Amino acid sequence: AGPRRWALRGDLLDFTAAPSWGDTESPAVRFDRDHWLLIEDGRIVGRQAHEPDDSWARKDHAGQLVLPGFIDTHVHCPQLEVIGSYGTELLDWLKRYTFPSECAFADPVRSRAGAEVFLDALLASGTTAAVVFATVHKVSAEALFDSAAARGMRLITGKVLMDRHAPDGLRDDVVQAEQDCIDLIGRFHGRDRLAYAVTVRFAPTSTPEQLAMAGALCRADASLYMQTHVAENRAEVAWVGELFPQARSYLDVYDSVGLVHERSVLAHGIYLDPHDRVVVTDRGAQVAHCPSSNLFLGSGLFDWPGAAFNVSLASDVGGGTTLSLPRNMLDAYKVQALRGERLTAWCALHAATRGAAEALQLGGEIGGLSVGQVADLCVWDWARGPVAEARDAVARELHERVFAWMTLADERNLAACYVAGRQRV
Ligand code: GUN
Ligand code: ZN
Repeated sequence: AGPRRWALRGDLLDFTAAPSWGDTESPAVRFDRDHWLLIEDGRIVGRQAHEPDDSWARKDHAGQLVLPGFIDTHVHCPQLEVIGSYGTELLDWLKRYTFPSECAFADPVRSRAGAEVFLDALLASGTTAAVVFATVHKVSAEALFDSAAARGMRLITGKVLMDRHAPDGLRDDVVQAEQDCIDLIGRFHGRDRLAYAVTVRFAPTSTPEQLAMAGALCRADASLYMQTHVAENRAEVAWVGELFPQARSYLDVYDSVGLVHERSVLAHGIYLDPHDRVVVTDRGAQVAHCPSSNLFLGSGLFDWPGAAFNVSLASDVGGGTTLSLPRNMLDAYKVQALRGERLTAWCALHAATRGAAEALQLGGEIGGLSVGQVADLCVWDWARGPVAEARDAVARELHERVFAWMTLADERNLAACYVAGRQRV
């Protein structure tokens, strides 16, 4: 089980506020070189410059970077096997690769094995908390909840709602879906570190009746999360316009039934119009920006600096090609570079830690290295291999060093990963 009381030494980096766009010298950054974190019963109970007394067990990571565990706010457990599928944009990609692959999760054995491989892969990438799509099958959500609880992880998921425009074996119906949601909420929501997300796949795969049911679930319990896709791809947006001619916009399909609220995680949001952007802000919802996916599927370039709402960072595997959030930070930088903007390492790291935690209303628990927070944290090599070592050696100031780390790091840099104070990698 590991010691109940222990101390970790390293270069501690986290945030005390949201950094401003473009600010490389942000006062929101808290960097404590060669400090100690004190951990007791899975929580951080102290931070100090001096070595603790002998009553504390030690993990000495001097010269390594300690960050809060990353939070991936949009990722699909059943899509590990469709990573790197060639040649299509979103709608063909779903039909040709993703839907056929998700059918296998009807089998509880497959669902359980898939959940375990997936969660271990998240941890091996330095991601300790996530907002996850299961499949339409109730067992796929059960498997994720059980497997996350076994690892002590903070996990938000739900069974996918989809009752049309999907193949046989991948559709539910309104009545059965509602019963399944209610049962899963009763068994898992608020238990351990688990929470339920009402999970609408996207507007085209739910009937108006199912969308209304999903909205009613959210209105009945404000502690539920909601996750969906919105305005990701031009052909998708046009299709939603045909399916919902009375809606003002794609976002309005969700908003008009009560699905856009403080606990909503809206993936992509590339083609939200200015009015939609105000609605997202007013409702207190967040957009999960998925740069790897957006580049791989050719979906488009998200306007991050123009967002007044919370923006978190997400891998969207298997549309995205890596679970690694540092790899996604680099893709996010490149997306902004193509738009003539520049993303700082601070905005990128904040979005994957404190920013996501605050947007999920979990800031007291995760996303930072403050006393009182759960000890979900990762230790990273500042540099791995001769190229990164040479680059790291010449970095003069902190942003330069961390930005080069973000550009070059991946899961091979991960030296250790702790979840609620227990070492998992
Ligand atoms: N829109 C509806 N379903 C999906 C999905 O599985 N992945 C992505 N990227 N977009 C979607
Ligand atoms: Zn997705």
